[in-house]
Amino acid sequence: MNRSREILTKSKVLIVEDDRGLGEMLQEEIVDAGLQARRVDTAEEALSVAASWLPDLIVSDLRLPGADGLALMRRIQTDMPENMPDVLIITAFGSVAKAVESLKAGAEDFLTKPINLEHFMLTTHRILEKRMLRKEIKQMKGLLDGGDTFHGMVGRSRPMLTLFQQIRQIAKADGPVLIIGESGTGKELVARAIHRESKGRDKPFLAVNCAGIPEHLLESEFFGHKAGAFTGAGKPRQGLFAEAENGTLLLDEISEMPLALQAKFLRVLQDGKVRPVGSNHEQQVNVRILASTHCDLEQRVKAHQFREDLFYRLETFPLRVPPLRERDEDIDLLVAAFLTKQAFAAGKNIRGLSERAQEMLHQYPFPGNVRELQNVIERAVVFCQNKEIRPEHLPARIQKHTVQNNQGIDRQLMNAIQTTYDDLPSLEQVEQHYIRYVVDKLKGNKRRAATVLGIARRTLYRRLDETENAETDREPQHDSN
Ligand SMILES: Nc1ncnc2c1ncn2[C@@H]1O[C@H](COP(=O)(O)OP(=O)(O)OP(=O)(O)O)[C@@H](O)[C@H]1O
Ligand SMILES: [Mg+2]
Repeated sequence: MNRSREILTKSKVLIVEDDRGLGEMLQEEIVDAGLQARRVDTAEEALSVAASWLPDLIVSDLRLPGADGLALMRRIQTDMPENMPDVLIITAFGSVAKAVESLKAGAEDFLTKPINLEHFMLTTHRILEKRMLRKEIKQMKGLLDGGDTFHGMVGRSRPMLTLFQQIRQIAKADGPVLIIGESGTGKELVARAIHRESKGRDKPFLAVNCAGIPEHLLESEFFGHKAGAFTGAGKPRQGLFAEAENGTLLLDEISEMPLALQAKFLRVLQDGKVRPVGSNHEQQVNVRILASTHCDLEQRVKAHQFREDLFYRLETFPLRVPPLRERDEDIDLLVAAFLTKQAFAAGKNIRGLSERAQEMLHQYPFPGNVRELQNVIERAVVFCQNKEIRPEHLPARIQKHTVQNNQGIDRQLMNAIQTTYDDLPSLEQVEQHYIRYVVDKLKGNKRRAATVLGIARRTLYRRLDETENAETDREPQHDSN
């Protein structure tokens, strides 16, 4: 069943209408649509039923004996702030002005008598769907606020909870930290989290990509330079170490740092002193150093591309950021976080993923990790024109991956057949097996199985009978004597 239908059928509608004929007709219409409905005559009754039954929607006549529909709505608003139902006002043609007043006071919509039933049901569905969407967004937010993020990092899988714990502990120390993880796993977020957990949290956080700066400028970039220290060095410049004083400096892609600079950098780590280019004086700096890498530094050491002593100095506090494929439980949370943000930015009411699309994301290994997932959702939001992200909104590589996997399942089927029969099976036997396989896959739903197999349901029943008979024939016969 479609998820929105499923939730809608759980919706409860309370009808407040003293015109019994009209009230019953509306009630019937709602029940026929598969929703739950109750009807009362007065605002007073409505209040007491609403308090215990907690309806999602109150359809109320504006003119009622005693308190009117508007008064009822105001009472509901003050009495039930937590479970406030939506309100749809029904009014006689003459009192439209009052109906408009009720809209201003918070009613979702109003309909004028005589009521067109089709219009009534459309309005009811629209209000309930909107309500459901609000609820889901609230739940998603609840999910995200409920301890599932750590300084902007979404995750509640075991490996991520461990990582959050390590960050808290490491932040209290002073030594350098080496953040290791594949591309797109969130190394920069980890660095920021360490900074925010450390005592220099209100001091600067600077990140520099060691691969992004030309080699001849790196040294001055890090340590600063004196005026005229080299061609183009007009004014003196403070280096990143000095700029980050008392704060944190992230050296991204540390593996790309040239060997010559590695030696100077190691000295800073050891004695906290930097010497600007062209200067004879060293200056003391107090900066928390974080370094990140997506490649195996040990390999680099073996290949003489990375200094061993620097490697060991950084290795004191290693932090491994797990790849996304090792934390499948986080996928739904991340999707919820990205979807809420992206759909909101695009002004679209996208509620979630279809079951199939969700399955595809769980099967795909995400070599580009969280960044790839984020891009996938961003793209899906652009292509999605309805309320649900479906497989066709996902990139071909993800759709294809699932298809290939399913071919794997077919291989399993063939293996099963091969092991069941010593000799090669006949076409008839393969068919029989395949029919069973499809029925099992669809959890015994014969109607769907017949559709998938492209045969009539009657034929399916006959073939299944044949399989069962064949199986009983094959069962060992017990001697009754
Ligand atoms: N746990 C997470 N929760 C929310 N967003 C995340 C998470 N992990 C990563 N991201 C997002 O994914 C993107 C990539 O993260 P980040 O830049 O920190 O990765 P990285 O490991 O530094 O990647 P690279 O090696 O390519 O530099 C960013 O947009 C980041 O906000
Ligand atoms: Mg990065």
